[in-house]
Amino acid sequence: MSAQATQPNCLAFMGAIGGAGVTGAVIETGFSILKAKRPGHAAAPRVCLMDLDFENGALAGYLDVLPGVDTGVLAGDPARIDGALASAFVSKHPSGLRVLSAPGLLGGNNSVNADCVLALMDAAASLYDVLILDVPRLWQPWTQAALMASDRSVLITEMNIPALHHTRDRLAQMDAIMPQSPPIELVINKHERRSFRAAITADDARQALERDITGFVCIDAATPRNAMNCGQPAGSLHPDSRYVKDWDALSRKLMTPARTQSAPAQATG
Ligand SMILES: Nc1ncnc2c1ncn2[C@@H]1O[C@H](COP(=O)(O)OP(=O)(O)OP(=O)(O)O)[C@@H](O)[C@H]1O
Ligand SMILES: [Mg+2]
Repeated sequence: MSAQATQPNCLAFMGAIGGAGVTGAVIETGFSILKAKRPGHAAAPRVCLMDLDFENGALAGYLDVLPGVDTGVLAGDPARIDGALASAFVSKHPSGLRVLSAPGLLGGNNSVNADCVLALMDAAASLYDVLILDVPRLWQPWTQAALMASDRSVLITEMNIPALHHTRDRLAQMDAIMPQSPPIELVINKHERRSFRAAITADDARQALERDITGFVCIDAATPRNAMNCGQPAGSLHPDSRYVKDWDALSRKLMTPARTQSAPAQATG
């Protein structure tokens, strides 16, 4: 039986709790993928980050680019949205990252049409090698479709009791709503590696959440704060920091090609 390697081309990040570090994750993962050498490719992959929060999106602000998505267009006819329009909406960051983000407008998430959001995702996916989604924590009419369209969906949480309770409940509800989707993966951000007797351990978290954890990212307030204030990925400013190395390791894991088994040969005779 032969196996075929397929590299993911759409990753989705969502927070189980507010401020878990999703927007930072989208940027660091994107930059990490951009700078990693791809076997068999001379050029760097084209990476686009897309903010699916049309009211409170922070992605463009974190990278200090002007948001280019016209939410008025996203309230109209999805058939109008094609590659040319998506290109016109893209903001270019000097790092090479490309960003699809809307100016945060009050009620922005209520005015856009879910089919238009999906059409813009499709158009972006046709233009870029890797699309990374910043999915808002509040469930929107396009959330399920966006997660189902992604090769890997990651829920980011923190290692404290209320966050773990909330994450467990959220995972159970997402599993129930999307039984066909690949399992939602978990990342613990702001992780304190030193373990004191009373601290929650990684094993406690695995047990509480009843699933494995794809990655841990260390707590480091200064590195993401500095990156945000400079409008740059932390990966370009502090490549040797533990914070960046943790996201690099996670990106490698997430981009590992899934091996899809081809159908077994028909028995003959
Ligand atoms: N590993 C970390 N250690 C310490 N602070 C962090 C870490 N990751 C992110 N932060 C900080 O947490 C805050 C929230 O980060 P970020 O905006 O990326 O989260 P978010 O999940 O996108 O938030 P929101 O729910 O508002 O969309 C920021 O101040 C950021 O600098
Ligand atoms: Mg965010």
